[in-house]
Amino acid sequence: MTILGIESSCDETSAAVMRDGALRSNVVSSQYFHAEHGGVVPELASRAHLTAILPIVREALGEAAVTVQELDAVAATQGPGLIGSLLVGLNLGKALAVGLGIPFLPVNHIEAHLFSTFLQDPHPSFPFLALAVSGGHTLLVRIDDVGAYTLLGGTIDDAAGEAFDKVGKMLGLGFPGGPAIDRLAVEGNPDALAFPRPLLDSGDDRFSFSGLKTSVLYHLRGRARNGVLELHANEIADICASFQRAVVDVLAGKLLRAAHREGIRDIAVVGGVSANRELQLRLRHEAEQRGLRVFIPDLLLSTDNAAMVARLAALKLERHAHGTLDAPAFARLGTTLFSTDNVGR
Ligand code: KG4
Ligand code: ZN
Repeated sequence: MTILGIESSCDETSAAVMRDGALRSNVVSSQYFHAEHGGVVPELASRAHLTAILPIVREALGEAAVTVQELDAVAATQGPGLIGSLLVGLNLGKALAVGLGIPFLPVNHIEAHLFSTFLQDPHPSFPFLALAVSGGHTLLVRIDDVGAYTLLGGTIDDAAGEAFDKVGKMLGLGFPGGPAIDRLAVEGNPDALAFPRPLLDSGDDRFSFSGLKTSVLYHLRGRARNGVLELHANEIADICASFQRAVVDVLAGKLLRAAHREGIRDIAVVGGVSANRELQLRLRHEAEQRGLRVFIPDLLLSTDNAAMVARLAALKLERHAHGTLDAPAFARLGTTLFSTDNVGR
Protein backbone atom coordinates (compact mmCIF):
# COMPACT_ATOMS: atom_id res chain seq x y z
CA MET A 1 0.00 0.00 0.00
CA THR A 2 1.57 3.29 -1.13
CA ILE A 3 0.04 6.56 0.07
CA LEU A 4 0.80 10.16 -0.85
CA GLY A 5 0.02 12.68 1.92
CA ILE A 6 -0.36 16.41 1.28
CA GLU A 7 -0.51 19.15 3.92
CA SER A 8 -1.10 22.86 3.25
CA SER A 9 -3.23 24.05 6.15
CA CYS A 10 -1.32 27.11 7.25
CA ASP A 11 2.21 28.28 6.60
CA GLU A 12 3.97 25.14 5.45
CA THR A 13 3.60 23.13 2.26
CA SER A 14 4.43 19.48 2.71
CA ALA A 15 4.18 16.16 0.89
CA ALA A 16 5.10 12.69 2.12
CA VAL A 17 5.03 9.13 0.85
CA MET A 18 4.37 6.04 2.99
CA ARG A 19 4.79 2.54 1.65
CA ASP A 20 3.63 -0.48 3.62
CA GLY A 21 3.62 1.45 6.88
CA ALA A 22 7.11 2.89 6.44
CA LEU A 23 7.75 6.57 5.82
CA ARG A 24 9.67 6.95 2.56
CA SER A 25 9.81 10.76 2.34
CA ASN A 26 8.55 13.85 4.14
CA VAL A 27 9.33 17.12 2.39
CA VAL A 28 8.39 20.27 4.32
CA SER A 29 8.81 23.73 2.79
CA SER A 30 10.07 26.78 4.63
CA GLN A 31 7.55 28.86 6.59
CA TYR A 32 5.50 31.57 4.96
CA PHE A 33 5.51 33.71 8.06
CA HIS A 34 5.46 37.31 6.89
CA ALA A 35 7.76 39.21 9.24
CA GLU A 36 6.83 42.62 7.88
CA HIS A 37 3.15 41.92 8.67
CA GLY A 38 3.82 40.24 12.02
CA GLY A 39 2.05 37.03 11.03
CA VAL A 40 0.81 34.79 8.26
CA VAL A 41 -1.13 36.73 5.61
CA PRO A 42 -3.68 34.21 4.28
CA GLU A 43 -3.68 35.44 0.67
CA LEU A 44 0.13 35.45 0.52
CA ALA A 45 0.27 31.99 2.07
CA SER A 46 -2.23 30.64 -0.48
CA ARG A 47 -0.15 31.98 -3.35
CA ALA A 48 3.02 30.53 -1.85
CA HIS A 49 1.32 27.11 -1.59
CA LEU A 50 0.25 27.35 -5.24
CA THR A 51 3.83 27.89 -6.33
CA ALA A 52 5.36 25.35 -3.98
CA ILE A 53 2.99 22.42 -4.05
CA LEU A 54 3.75 20.65 -7.32
CA PRO A 55 7.55 20.78 -6.94
CA ILE A 56 7.18 19.51 -3.36
CA VAL A 57 4.93 16.61 -4.37
CA ARG A 58 7.41 15.72 -7.13
CA GLU A 59 10.27 15.91 -4.64
CA ALA A 60 8.47 13.68 -2.15
CA LEU A 61 7.75 11.09 -4.85
CA GLY A 62 11.32 11.32 -6.15
CA GLU A 63 12.85 10.91 -2.69
CA ALA A 64 10.62 7.91 -2.07
CA ALA A 65 11.49 6.50 -5.51
CA VAL A 66 7.77 6.10 -6.20
CA THR A 67 5.95 7.08 -9.40
CA VAL A 68 2.42 8.47 -9.34
CA GLN A 69 1.22 5.32 -11.08
CA GLU A 70 2.37 3.28 -8.09
CA LEU A 71 0.16 5.22 -5.64
CA ASP A 72 -2.74 3.33 -4.06
CA ALA A 73 -4.34 6.33 -2.31
CA VAL A 74 -3.95 10.08 -1.83
CA ALA A 75 -4.67 11.92 1.43
CA ALA A 76 -4.75 15.67 2.05
CA THR A 77 -5.60 17.96 4.94
CA GLN A 78 -9.18 19.15 4.89
CA GLY A 79 -9.04 21.47 7.93
CA PRO A 80 -8.86 23.20 10.28
CA GLY A 81 -6.70 25.93 8.82
CA LEU A 82 -6.65 28.79 6.34
CA ILE A 83 -9.24 28.07 3.66
CA GLY A 84 -7.18 29.40 0.76
CA SER A 85 -4.15 27.36 1.82
CA LEU A 86 -6.20 24.20 2.44
CA LEU A 87 -7.91 24.40 -0.96
CA VAL A 88 -4.55 24.20 -2.73
CA GLY A 89 -3.54 20.84 -1.22
CA LEU A 90 -7.04 19.42 -0.94
CA ASN A 91 -7.91 20.04 -4.59
CA LEU A 92 -4.56 18.81 -5.83
CA GLY A 93 -5.09 15.63 -3.82
CA LYS A 94 -8.58 15.11 -5.22
CA ALA A 95 -7.44 15.82 -8.78
CA LEU A 96 -4.59 13.32 -8.48
CA ALA A 97 -6.92 10.67 -7.08
CA VAL A 98 -9.49 11.20 -9.84
CA GLY A 99 -6.81 11.17 -12.52
CA LEU A 100 -5.24 8.01 -11.17
CA GLY A 101 -8.53 6.30 -10.33
CA ILE A 102 -7.55 5.71 -6.68
CA PRO A 103 -9.25 6.63 -3.36
CA PHE A 104 -8.94 10.11 -1.91
CA LEU A 105 -8.91 10.44 1.91
CA PRO A 106 -9.60 13.82 3.52
CA VAL A 107 -7.67 14.20 6.78
CA ASN A 108 -8.38 16.34 9.83
CA HIS A 109 -5.20 18.27 10.69
CA ILE A 110 -5.63 17.94 14.45
CA GLU A 111 -6.42 14.23 14.21
CA ALA A 112 -3.22 13.81 12.17
CA HIS A 113 -1.23 15.59 14.91
CA LEU A 114 -2.78 13.25 17.51
CA PHE A 115 -1.29 10.27 15.66
CA SER A 116 2.07 11.85 14.78
CA THR A 117 3.80 9.66 17.38
CA PHE A 118 2.70 6.63 15.32
CA LEU A 119 5.46 7.53 12.86
CA GLN A 120 7.97 6.36 15.44
CA ASP A 121 8.72 3.07 17.09
CA PRO A 122 7.56 2.38 19.77
CA HIS A 123 4.30 4.30 19.64
CA PRO A 124 1.42 4.54 22.14
CA SER A 125 -1.03 1.69 22.65
CA PHE A 126 -4.79 2.26 22.92
CA PRO A 127 -6.18 3.78 25.01
CA PHE A 128 -3.81 6.72 25.34
CA LEU A 129 -3.99 10.40 26.22
CA ALA A 130 -2.80 13.00 23.75
CA LEU A 131 -1.98 16.58 24.58
CA ALA A 132 -1.94 18.65 21.39
CA VAL A 133 -0.13 21.92 21.99
CA SER A 134 0.47 24.19 19.03
CA GLY A 135 0.20 27.83 18.04
CA GLY A 136 -3.53 27.47 17.49
CA HIS A 137 -4.68 24.63 19.76
CA THR A 138 -4.38 23.23 23.26
CA LEU A 139 -6.37 20.03 23.51
CA LEU A 140 -6.34 17.11 25.90
CA VAL A 141 -7.88 14.09 24.22
CA ARG A 142 -8.54 10.50 25.27
CA ILE A 143 -7.98 8.19 22.31
CA ASP A 144 -9.55 4.73 22.51
CA ASP A 145 -9.00 3.83 18.86
CA VAL A 146 -8.67 5.47 15.47
CA GLY A 147 -11.86 7.50 15.22
CA ALA A 148 -12.82 7.16 18.92
CA TYR A 149 -11.83 10.38 20.65
CA THR A 150 -13.09 12.12 23.76
CA LEU A 151 -12.14 15.74 24.18
CA LEU A 152 -11.34 16.00 27.89
CA GLY A 153 -10.52 19.68 27.77
CA GLY A 154 -9.04 22.56 25.84
CA THR A 155 -8.04 26.14 26.35
CA ILE A 156 -10.68 28.69 27.18
CA ASP A 157 -8.60 31.51 25.70
CA ASP A 158 -5.05 31.48 24.23
CA ALA A 159 -3.31 28.33 23.03
CA ALA A 160 -0.05 27.37 24.77
CA GLY A 161 2.03 28.16 21.69
CA GLU A 162 0.21 31.45 21.26
CA ALA A 163 1.29 32.44 24.79
CA PHE A 164 4.91 31.60 23.93
CA ASP A 165 4.61 33.67 20.75
CA LYS A 166 3.01 36.67 22.47
CA VAL A 167 5.54 36.70 25.31
CA GLY A 168 8.33 36.30 22.75
CA LYS A 169 6.99 39.33 20.92
CA MET A 170 6.83 41.39 24.14
CA LEU A 171 10.47 40.53 24.80
CA GLY A 172 11.50 41.40 21.23
CA LEU A 173 12.50 37.82 20.44
CA GLY A 174 10.82 37.65 17.00
CA PHE A 175 8.52 34.89 15.73
CA PRO A 176 7.92 32.17 16.68
CA GLY A 177 8.59 32.91 20.34
CA GLY A 178 8.68 29.30 21.58
CA PRO A 179 12.10 28.20 20.35
CA ALA A 180 13.73 31.49 21.47
CA ILE A 181 12.19 31.30 24.97
CA ASP A 182 13.20 27.62 25.20
CA ARG A 183 16.82 28.61 24.40
CA LEU A 184 17.01 31.62 26.74
CA ALA A 185 15.19 29.93 29.65
CA VAL A 186 18.18 27.64 30.19
CA GLU A 187 20.24 30.68 31.26
CA GLY A 188 17.57 32.14 33.57
CA ASN A 189 16.20 31.47 37.04
CA PRO A 190 12.74 29.84 36.87
CA ASP A 191 11.97 31.04 40.41
CA ALA A 192 12.91 34.66 39.76
CA LEU A 193 9.33 35.76 39.08
CA ALA A 194 6.12 34.38 40.53
CA PHE A 195 3.87 34.10 37.49
CA PRO A 196 0.48 32.41 37.93
CA ARG A 197 -0.34 28.77 37.04
CA PRO A 198 -3.82 29.33 35.59
CA LEU A 199 -6.39 26.56 36.22
CA LEU A 200 -3.70 24.19 37.52
CA ASP A 201 -5.97 23.22 40.41
CA SER A 202 -9.30 23.71 38.64
CA GLY A 203 -10.16 20.03 39.03
CA ASP A 204 -11.04 19.72 35.34
CA ASP A 205 -9.09 19.55 32.08
CA ARG A 206 -9.54 23.13 30.94
CA PHE A 207 -6.53 25.33 30.23
CA SER A 208 -6.03 29.09 30.17
CA PHE A 209 -2.92 31.02 29.15
CA SER A 210 -4.19 34.53 28.59
CA GLY A 211 -3.80 35.60 32.25
CA LEU A 212 -0.25 34.28 32.37
CA LYS A 213 0.63 36.27 29.28
CA THR A 214 -0.95 39.38 30.85
CA SER A 215 1.10 38.87 34.03
CA VAL A 216 4.26 38.99 31.95
CA LEU A 217 2.97 42.16 30.29
CA TYR A 218 2.25 43.80 33.67
CA HIS A 219 5.69 42.84 34.90
CA LEU A 220 7.26 44.50 31.87
CA ARG A 221 5.12 47.62 32.31
CA GLY A 222 6.22 47.79 35.93
CA ARG A 223 9.86 47.62 34.85
CA ALA A 224 9.52 50.51 32.36
CA ARG A 225 10.88 53.90 33.42
CA ASN A 226 9.16 56.93 31.85
CA GLY A 227 7.63 54.62 29.30
CA VAL A 228 11.01 53.22 28.30
CA LEU A 229 11.77 49.56 28.88
CA GLU A 230 15.37 48.46 28.98
CA LEU A 231 15.99 44.88 29.98
CA HIS A 232 19.35 43.28 30.66
CA ALA A 233 20.02 39.93 29.06
CA ASN A 234 19.86 38.18 32.45
CA GLU A 235 16.45 39.73 33.17
CA ILE A 236 15.12 38.50 29.83
CA ALA A 237 16.45 35.05 30.64
CA ASP A 238 14.76 35.15 34.07
CA ILE A 239 11.43 36.14 32.51
CA CYS A 240 11.74 33.36 29.93
CA ALA A 241 12.64 30.78 32.57
CA SER A 242 9.86 31.85 34.97
CA PHE A 243 7.22 32.02 32.23
CA GLN A 244 8.24 28.67 30.78
CA ARG A 245 8.24 27.04 34.22
CA ALA A 246 4.65 28.26 34.74
CA VAL A 247 3.53 26.80 31.38
CA VAL A 248 5.32 23.50 32.01
CA ASP A 249 3.87 23.23 35.55
CA VAL A 250 0.36 23.64 34.12
CA LEU A 251 0.73 21.38 31.08
CA ALA A 252 2.58 18.59 32.87
CA GLY A 253 0.53 18.86 36.07
CA LYS A 254 -2.84 18.65 34.36
CA LEU A 255 -1.76 15.98 31.90
CA LEU A 256 -0.41 13.70 34.62
CA ARG A 257 -3.50 14.14 36.78
CA ALA A 258 -5.73 13.30 33.85
CA ALA A 259 -3.67 10.17 33.14
CA HIS A 260 -4.06 9.10 36.76
CA ARG A 261 -7.80 9.78 36.77
CA GLU A 262 -8.39 7.95 33.48
CA GLY A 263 -6.12 5.09 34.52
CA ILE A 264 -4.07 5.47 31.34
CA ARG A 265 -0.36 4.62 31.04
CA ASP A 266 0.52 5.94 27.59
CA ILE A 267 0.73 9.67 26.89
CA ALA A 268 1.50 11.45 23.63
CA VAL A 269 2.45 15.11 23.48
CA VAL A 270 2.19 16.54 19.97
CA GLY A 271 2.28 19.86 18.10
CA GLY A 272 4.95 22.57 18.05
CA VAL A 273 5.14 23.17 21.82
CA SER A 274 5.99 19.49 22.38
CA ALA A 275 9.48 20.46 21.14
CA ASN A 276 10.00 22.40 24.38
CA ARG A 277 12.96 20.88 26.20
CA GLU A 278 11.83 21.66 29.73
CA LEU A 279 8.41 20.17 29.03
CA GLN A 280 10.04 17.06 27.59
CA LEU A 281 12.44 16.67 30.53
CA ARG A 282 9.70 17.17 33.10
CA LEU A 283 7.34 14.70 31.47
CA ARG A 284 10.02 12.05 30.95
CA HIS A 285 11.12 12.40 34.57
CA GLU A 286 7.58 12.28 35.97
CA ALA A 287 6.63 9.42 33.68
CA GLU A 288 9.55 7.36 34.93
CA GLN A 289 8.53 8.02 38.54
CA ARG A 290 4.93 6.98 37.87
CA GLY A 291 5.46 4.08 35.50
CA LEU A 292 3.94 5.91 32.55
CA ARG A 293 5.19 6.00 28.96
CA VAL A 294 5.57 9.38 27.25
CA PHE A 295 5.76 9.67 23.47
CA ILE A 296 6.92 12.87 21.80
CA PRO A 297 7.48 13.17 18.05
CA ASP A 298 10.83 14.22 16.61
CA LEU A 299 11.00 17.91 15.72
CA LEU A 300 10.11 17.54 12.03
CA LEU A 301 7.09 15.43 13.01
CA SER A 302 5.89 17.73 15.81
CA THR A 303 5.45 20.79 13.60
CA ASP A 304 3.13 20.69 10.57
CA ASN A 305 4.07 17.97 8.10
CA ALA A 306 2.49 15.62 5.56
CA ALA A 307 3.94 12.44 7.07
CA MET A 308 1.33 12.57 9.83
CA VAL A 309 -1.37 13.01 7.18
CA ALA A 310 -0.21 9.92 5.29
CA ARG A 311 0.14 7.97 8.56
CA LEU A 312 -3.41 8.68 9.67
CA ALA A 313 -4.71 7.85 6.19
CA ALA A 314 -2.87 4.51 6.38
CA LEU A 315 -4.41 3.76 9.78
CA LYS A 316 -7.87 4.55 8.39
CA LEU A 317 -7.34 2.43 5.28
CA GLU A 318 -6.22 -0.47 7.49
CA ARG A 319 -9.63 -0.09 9.16
CA HIS A 320 -11.34 -0.19 5.76
CA ALA A 321 -12.08 3.51 5.40
CA HIS A 322 -13.47 4.48 2.02
CA GLY A 323 -12.20 7.36 -0.04
CA THR A 324 -14.47 10.30 -0.83
CA LEU A 325 -14.27 13.31 -3.09
CA ASP A 326 -17.09 14.94 -1.16
CA ALA A 327 -14.95 16.70 1.42
CA PRO A 328 -14.94 20.48 1.75
CA ALA A 329 -12.17 22.52 3.33
CA PHE A 330 -13.05 23.92 6.76
CA ALA A 331 -11.48 26.65 8.87
CA ARG A 332 -12.35 25.69 12.44
CA LEU A 333 -11.97 22.45 14.36
CA GLY A 334 -15.58 22.37 15.54
CA THR A 335 -16.79 19.39 17.54
CA THR A 336 -17.37 16.70 14.94
CA LEU A 337 -14.10 14.92 15.68
CA PHE A 338 -15.01 14.16 19.27
CA SER A 339 -17.65 12.02 20.87
CA THR A 340 -17.70 14.25 23.94
CA ASP A 341 -16.98 17.92 23.68
CA ASN A 342 -16.35 19.41 27.10
CA VAL A 343 -14.87 22.68 26.11
CA GLY A 344 -13.04 24.96 23.82
CA ARG A 345 -10.90 24.67 20.78
O1 KG4 B 1 2.26 22.81 15.54
P1 KG4 B 1 2.92 24.07 15.10
O2 KG4 B 1 4.19 23.98 14.30
O3 KG4 B 1 1.98 24.96 14.24
C1 KG4 B 1 0.66 25.20 14.52
O4 KG4 B 1 0.42 26.15 15.31
O5 KG4 B 1 -0.18 24.42 13.99
O6 KG4 B 1 3.19 24.92 16.44
C2 KG4 B 1 3.82 26.18 16.42
C3 KG4 B 1 3.93 26.68 17.85
C4 KG4 B 1 4.38 28.13 17.95
O7 KG4 B 1 3.51 28.80 18.82
C5 KG4 B 1 5.77 28.02 18.53
O8 KG4 B 1 6.14 29.12 19.33
C6 KG4 B 1 5.68 26.76 19.36
O9 KG4 B 1 4.88 25.89 18.58
N1 KG4 B 1 6.99 26.15 19.61
C7 KG4 B 1 7.53 26.04 20.84
C8 KG4 B 1 8.81 25.44 20.65
N2 KG4 B 1 8.97 25.19 19.32
C9 KG4 B 1 7.83 25.63 18.69
N3 KG4 B 1 7.07 26.39 22.04
C10 KG4 B 1 7.87 26.16 23.09
N4 KG4 B 1 9.11 25.61 23.01
C11 KG4 B 1 9.61 25.24 21.82
N5 KG4 B 1 10.82 24.69 21.74
ZN1 ZN C 1 -0.55 21.94 13.21
